[in-house]
Amino acid sequence: MSIKKRVLTGITTSGTPHLGNLAGAVLPAIQASKDNSTSSFLFLADYHSLIKNLDPKLTHSSSLEIAACWLACGLNPKKVTFYRQSDIQHIMELTWILSCLTAKGLLNRAHAYKDAVSKNQESKNKDLDKGITMGLFNYPILMAADILMFNADIVPVGQDQQQHLEMTREIARRFNHHYQDLFTIPNAQINKVSGVIPGLDGNKMSKSYNNVIPVFESKDKLRKSIMKIQTNSLKPGDPKKTEGCTIFKIFQSFADEQEQENLKIDYSKGIAWGEAKERLFELLLDRLDPYRQEYKRIIKDKGEIENILQEGASKAHEISSPLMLKIREAVGIKSF
Ligand code: TRP
Repeated sequence: MSIKKRVLTGITTSGTPHLGNLAGAVLPAIQASKDNSTSSFLFLADYHSLIKNLDPKLTHSSSLEIAACWLACGLNPKKVTFYRQSDIQHIMELTWILSCLTAKGLLNRAHAYKDAVSKNQESKNKDLDKGITMGLFNYPILMAADILMFNADIVPVGQDQQQHLEMTREIARRFNHHYQDLFTIPNAQINKVSGVIPGLDGNKMSKSYNNVIPVFESKDKLRKSIMKIQTNSLKPGDPKKTEGCTIFKIFQSFADEQEQENLKIDYSKGIAWGEAKERLFELLLDRLDPYRQEYKRIIKDKGEIENILQEGASKAHEISSPLMLKIREAVGIKSF
């Protein structure tokens, strides 16, 4: 196994890049990729997108936008293995192999599936599996294959993904025990601070909740999104709390300590919500400006993005191909 610890994370390509992607995944992952004692595997989880939507245009445009986002935020493709999940067919192959040794009961307990079942229960549907695809049900196995295919040691994810990591560990152990010790048991690295960037309604910022603030739209649209953040009914002049405040939480993810302190003081002095939002807008414009400029430039050159991803895919294959040969052999799929 490699000496450098492998850090791996992916983003589902089912929407336009938003502040939660940036603060929760992209920026910390790029920062971590600069550490020479680790090697980073960062990828576009495009097959995961089909779990969330069946709109080919959306999956395709989102893949391009998320790729441009990683690059605009400073991902160095020479240093990092940066690829599109669908270019590594071994991941799909591994998904099947893992499916055949994963207990259905394990997946029955997955949060994403259980939530969908509870929704059917609440709406008194006779069929508790109504509207639930096998894709949603198998989602944790696809994620396990993403991780195990590269024998990742560390997987930085949000709190909501912790259960998937536990399942991945369980599946890897089962394979190692039953067939051959081929997989590293990965550890989740839960990002407590940035893992919980709230969206417009205060819930986790996520495409699924329709509460996102897109990063790369026009200034005008960025401002409009920020103005939509929900606040309580405290009036200008009323002292306000920073704890649990969505505006402050987002501000905090991008501001230095002094800036946070200043805003805190203004909260206690009764800053108006509109003014607090303006402050957030100004801060974001300033902090995001370099990324926004780069993004505009990069997204124009699709050919170049494609080249970068193809180079990444060949680097990724150097690892997935030999490991897949061993996996096939271990399960008894080999030439005579
Ligand atoms: N499911 C993850 C999410 O929605 C994205 C993802 C797919 C991922 N495969 C992964 C994250 C493998 C880490 C490792 O956030």
